[in-house]
Amino acid sequence: MRLIFLVSVCLSGLSIAVSTISLTGNGYTDVLVTVADDIAENTQLISILQDWLIEASRKLYIASKYRFFFEKVIIRIPEAWSNNGQYIVTSASTNREGDIRIENPIQDVRSNPYACCLPACGVGGQYIHFTTDVMFKGENAGFGNLATVLVHEWGHYRWGLFDEYPTSRDTYTREIIRFYSHNGRWEPVRCTTEIFGTIFNYVSNRNCRLDSRGKPESDCIFRPEYGVKATAIASMMGSAYIKSISQFCDSNSTDERTKHNSEAPNKHNDKCSGQSSWDIIKQHNDYKATSPGSPFANTRPQIILQQTQIIGRFCLLVDVSGSMQNFIGDAKDALTTVIKTIIPNESYVGIASFNDNGQLLKRMTKITSESDRNSLAYNLPTTTDGSTSIGAGIETCYQELLTLHNVTGSVIYLATDGKENKSPYIEEVLPNLTGKGIVLHTLAIGSSADEKLNNISKMTGGSSYFYSTNTVNSTSLVDALMEPFTDSSKDKIIRIKTLHTKILTQQVFETNFVIDDTIGKDTIVQLTTHVVRDVNLTIKHSEMTFAKIGTAGDNGVIYIKIPGIAQIGKYDIFLSSTTHDISGTLSIFSKAVSAKQAVLQVNVLNTEPEIQYSAVLRFPLYAAVYKGSMPVINAAVKAVIENEIGDSSTIILKDNAIGANVSLNDGIYSCYILPNELSANGRLSIKVITEGYSAKVVVPVTRSPGTNFTDDFKDQPIGPFMRVALAREITVKDYKLLDKNIDLISPSPILTLQLSNISNEDNTYTMTWYAVGDDLDKGNATGYDIRYSDKFQKLKTDPEHQQTIHAGIIPKEPGETESFVFRIPNIQTNTTYYIAVRAVDDQNNTGDLSNIISVSILNDQYWFEDEKKKTTNGLSIAFVAGISIGTVIIVFIFLVCFITLIKKRKVPRMSNYAV
Ligand SMILES: *[C@@H]1O[C@H](CO)[C@@H](O)[C@H](O)[C@H]1NC(C)=O
Ligand SMILES: *[C@@H]1O[C@H](CO)[C@@H](O)[C@H](O)[C@H]1NC(C)=O
Ligand SMILES: *[C@@H]1O[C@H](CO)[C@@H](O)[C@H](O)[C@H]1NC(C)=O
Ligand SMILES: *[C@@H]1O[C@H](CO)[C@@H](O)[C@H](O)[C@H]1NC(C)=O
Ligand SMILES: *[C@@H]1O[C@H](CO)[C@@H](O)[C@H](O)[C@H]1NC(C)=O
Ligand SMILES: *[C@@H]1O[C@H](CO)[C@@H](O)[C@H](O)[C@H]1NC(C)=O
Ligand SMILES: *[C@@H]1O[C@H](CO)[C@@H](O)[C@H](O)[C@H]1NC(C)=O
Repeated sequence: MRLIFLVSVCLSGLSIAVSTISLTGNGYTDVLVTVADDIAENTQLISILQDWLIEASRKLYIASKYRFFFEKVIIRIPEAWSNNGQYIVTSASTNREGDIRIENPIQDVRSNPYACCLPACGVGGQYIHFTTDVMFKGENAGFGNLATVLVHEWGHYRWGLFDEYPTSRDTYTREIIRFYSHNGRWEPVRCTTEIFGTIFNYVSNRNCRLDSRGKPESDCIFRPEYGVKATAIASMMGSAYIKSISQFCDSNSTDERTKHNSEAPNKHNDKCSGQSSWDIIKQHNDYKATSPGSPFANTRPQIILQQTQIIGRFCLLVDVSGSMQNFIGDAKDALTTVIKTIIPNESYVGIASFNDNGQLLKRMTKITSESDRNSLAYNLPTTTDGSTSIGAGIETCYQELLTLHNVTGSVIYLATDGKENKSPYIEEVLPNLTGKGIVLHTLAIGSSADEKLNNISKMTGGSSYFYSTNTVNSTSLVDALMEPFTDSSKDKIIRIKTLHTKILTQQVFETNFVIDDTIGKDTIVQLTTHVVRDVNLTIKHSEMTFAKIGTAGDNGVIYIKIPGIAQIGKYDIFLSSTTHDISGTLSIFSKAVSAKQAVLQVNVLNTEPEIQYSAVLRFPLYAAVYKGSMPVINAAVKAVIENEIGDSSTIILKDNAIGANVSLNDGIYSCYILPNELSANGRLSIKVITEGYSAKVVVPVTRSPGTNFTDDFKDQPIGPFMRVALAREITVKDYKLLDKNIDLISPSPILTLQLSNISNEDNTYTMTWYAVGDDLDKGNATGYDIRYSDKFQKLKTDPEHQQTIHAGIIPKEPGETESFVFRIPNIQTNTTYYIAVRAVDDQNNTGDLSNIISVSILNDQYWFEDEKKKTTNGLSIAFVAGISIGTVIIVFIFLVCFITLIKKRKVPRMSNYAV
């Protein structure tokens, strides 16, 4: 597989924290801007950020037609900066990472602002990245007005919009597609068509020519008017660097200046099936929850400057009602593991339980020693009895947390298997938690746990997890109890592997794990099991052996901590017992080698808490595998899904631009979970496992003048790695809707259709695309239905009744490249023909229409004229597109440099890179 394009590129970022932005009225509150810890103290940066956010809030309000602005923004200042009272000091139990992250530039990596990791159209990204050098330079950084750029990134991050400037790449040449065929001309990719500018070869500084494939040569660009003379007002996702830009494109606009250009082959059109940015925003919950405000509303955000100390304050709350009888032992072992190895030193931990009433079992205790941990573990409950008053338990934790001075940001982790049946009820005590900013995480144990858990966690900004007690060999109890604590220090716990083991007496169980070059600090291998005595846990790595034999004094967990920084490589684990059978969960985790290290991580991206299948609804799952800022490709990624009735299934996630996956090789791996892969409604727990043996990272290459323009990225092999991540609980409804009959499922739409070759002599065209499957992305399809029309809308809305081109292609395996040469019968000059393709399956179900490409007979003399005739000097003779813009922010940077260099009569080749 080769790199085709990147949606956006991730820099640094240790984890994907749960964003707690909320929308009250028209205002976004609790938008978190983080200033990276390694940024040198500089108060000027903070005032630049404040002015920037105030300006961006106004621009966002205008661009969103008076719907959205920033109402409350928190800027988190590094702890090392001196504080003379100008920053509010707060403490938090978990390290929530910023929505907007300000970071130092990285040497040899371009400082483009970007929004990281966009899984699909309408699904938001993970965070927004800006660098300090860009913030200090402001408009001179070459990206245009930075407040406008922030609105652009917000479009990616919040609403899942894609770029409208040319970033889509040709499947074969990897060159960026900058033009499309329209009415005999090559039109620049742009939204809207009401943007004026110049088409020219920026390397030769002359008019553009056609290349051997009949398309504009790769150095041919469109330079829009972007300065004070610019008149274009849209679009935000396309031309944010043009001074006059203030609006998103809208399909329904009656004003040509904001009218969406659905013909342009850009990522937004490809992935959002030709819909405009505004169409996508209108489908977002934010839009549905608001109505436009007054144009004169005050949009100035309240900006809070905070210094945050990460000091965990956790109350572990365990259900000890009668029904917990069968699970209390396992819960105790898993919580013992959490207390002994996961929660960092200096954290405060308390333990409470509930049945008819709440009981405080251990007061909030600061962990400073091994004996603090032992004494906490000793107080975990072991007996069960009585009814279930969840509210009473929460109240007990709440009152105990109040004894600490800092309450906001403390955490209650509730584990329960039942429904509340005695007051006080959750509803009664919840206002106390939300009022004090206490976060409630929940673990639903088994199929009878209260349905409300998911929702109440969400209301407090917490997460919910699920452990299916019916699933054989499940690791999810230990996984889920560890999960909320993995980011309770500045250096997050990175999980390498978890697996369940069952070993008979005297047998030796063997497994292994790998340490890659990004992790190795505080590496722990542990077995959570009921009887630890006589368990022999041995680890071997080259000449080294680490061993631990359980004793009668050990409880619930046995572990080995590898001293110092664990060496890179493979480690073998041997597990045995001479006296009894072992059944338990082996878990292996570590931390970043250093704070500066770009860590390899897998993160499960935005998933809906509830999936209700319908005839049209698909259930996509996305995981991002990144090493710092760089997408990891060729990784093996799978999801293990466990449901309430104890069934488990495994699904492969792919990064192949078909099915649920919208971009090839961008480090985002996806799959659909089809109803036939499930066997029950209700809660699911999903564990994502990734391993890399032939994996590579995609490294952005900073090119110096004269190097190969097409070489924007380079694949670089990386060593083997293993990672595991847990998704939050998902509840499934109506899985039976399709009656498990996958015959009804049609192929996925093709999102990768492109025109790859044109013969202007005989008007034959070659189109290529990636094959999709018989059922979405699985199995070979049966055929293709190719349609064309000279009316874009007709093709889009009524493909059935448009002309066909009989191709007779036998579809290849999903993901393989299909190529087809065609000719339009009776092709007319001055007409544009639109072409799309759909895959057809063995039941004659047709997939949704692909992205649409256009062809026309080239009759624009500009592209044929002899170079010498038209060239006088430089830009002056280049073709002026009456209407156009498209090349975005990147091109702008290049242009700034370009124009400067032209004055020196030297033309550089500059990088061209997605923002
Ligand atoms: C409360 O938090 C502040 C700042 O995080 C800290 O200075 C103070 O010592 C904390 N108080 C307690 C009792 O932990
Ligand atoms: C355009 O506007 C019409 C009339 O208000 C509406 O019916 C239609 O759904 C709109 N289309 C889009 C794409 O929003
Ligand atoms: C909420 O907290 C207050 C103050 O601690 C307490 O008096 C009250 O009983 C709590 N509310 C409930 C419903 O527990
Ligand atoms: C559970 O794990 C054991 C080995 O540890 C294996 O033999 C058994 O097949 C597994 N059972 C299931 C249902 O996966
Ligand atoms: C523990 O297991 C390892 C590996 O199986 C073995 O080499 C070692 O002798 C065992 N130790 C004891 C004390 O049994
Ligand atoms: C530029 O890249 C293309 C495609 O990767 C390659 O075929 C060509 O040889 C390269 N040219 C130079 C000068 O490196
Ligand atoms: C699917 O297509 C590939 C060619 O791409 C072919 O080798 C394979 O046999 C086909 N599979 C089936 C089940 O027809």
